[in-house]
Amino acid sequence: MIDSDKRDLKWMKRAIFLASLGKGRTSPNPMVGAVILDKYGNLISEGFHCKSGMPHAEAMAFKNLKKDASGGSIYVNLEPCCHQGKTPPCVDQIISFGIKKVYISIEDPDKRVSGKGIKLLKDAGIKVHQGLCERESLELNKSFIHRNITGSAFGVLKWAMSLDGRVGLKNGKSKWLTNKYSRSLVHSYRSSFDAIVIGGNTLRKDNPLLTSRGLRQPEPLRVVFTKTLDLPKKSNLWDCNLARTLVVYDASKANKNYLKRIPECVEIEEIPSDNPKLISNLLAKKGCNNVFWECGPKLATSAIKAGCIQELMTFIAPKILGGVCSMNPFADFEFTDMNDVLNLKSSEINLIGDDIFVKSDFY
Ligand SMILES: NC(=O)c1ccc[n+]([C@@H]2O[C@H](COP(=O)([O-])OP(=O)(O)OC[C@H]3O[C@@H](n4cnc5c(N)ncnc54)[C@H](OP(=O)(O)O)[C@@H]3O)[C@@H](O)[C@H]2O)c1
Repeated sequence: MIDSDKRDLKWMKRAIFLASLGKGRTSPNPMVGAVILDKYGNLISEGFHCKSGMPHAEAMAFKNLKKDASGGSIYVNLEPCCHQGKTPPCVDQIISFGIKKVYISIEDPDKRVSGKGIKLLKDAGIKVHQGLCERESLELNKSFIHRNITGSAFGVLKWAMSLDGRVGLKNGKSKWLTNKYSRSLVHSYRSSFDAIVIGGNTLRKDNPLLTSRGLRQPEPLRVVFTKTLDLPKKSNLWDCNLARTLVVYDASKANKNYLKRIPECVEIEEIPSDNPKLISNLLAKKGCNNVFWECGPKLATSAIKAGCIQELMTFIAPKILGGVCSMNPFADFEFTDMNDVLNLKSSEINLIGDDIFVKSDFY
């Protein structure tokens, strides 16, 4: 690799690192970082998109400029925008500051921008280089990309189980299977999600808090999916000072009298419960790029069947619960042939204390 390629790689990696600082705060926007060099190749500014509604990465970098940027270059992990949103188009700024080279990692999947930002830059006589660190940029913004392409939120299903594959005892007790380090890791994962979904039964049995324990402010939206609306009067999820809560229920199956049990601060939506994909679509419309599914076997199975889940996180505790009637992580998929079962590939395996953590996705 020649020196100039190494240098370009270094600055794009820096832009991606800066972008990642916005994790958990930019939705419905992507995570974007920008690095500006002067015409001699010296770093003169950088910035990142730190929160939805705040300036874009490029605008932050231009605001932080220490020297004249004309004749210089900019490195940005996503195609600069060319439309007027909450903030002015970044392409206009790049042109007006006299930038001569733009390094873009990936195109923006947003139809308002996709390819148009690059074209405007080229039309203005700017050299555009595309594709540096493409794999890393796709990984960083996979939820944003998924939501833009499918109209549905990127779903990650998480469950904890014993070494013999049980998620709880037959009396429903499942607290706590994993060690305190795994539980802290879950809090930290929650901080990178826009919403967390559970089913009505998990609310009734576990009364969870579903927060990141302050690691993310505001906390992710807590979502309860219920057919029956038969939810308790008292619940940790009804404390709206801690985090927002949304109850999604099936108007055709629920007893609406139960609505009286839910405090006014809780948001309510109606959707048919047969297809959990409608939840992923609803949450995407509400600006959630990604959703953490922390549900039990029934909803987890329905969510996978409906295509709501793109990644899986499994915590395996060195415990044996035993019993044919103990809870399995999933209900019946009704497979009758080994060729039909779900095939996964594991992308990460770690020891968390003496628990095992496995991250996988579908082939
Ligand atoms: N170890 C773990 O990782 C873990 C994680 C979560 C839960 N759990 C355990 O799992 C148990 C609860 O399991 P569960 O399977 O009943 O979980 P769940 O997460 O409560 O999901 C089932 C509930 O979701 C609602 N729902 C709405 N639409 C649905 C659909 N299309 N398909 C399925 N459910 C739908 C229903 O609520 P309504 O009944 O209100 O209508 C249903 O009872 C609890 O004992 C809990 O402790 C373990």
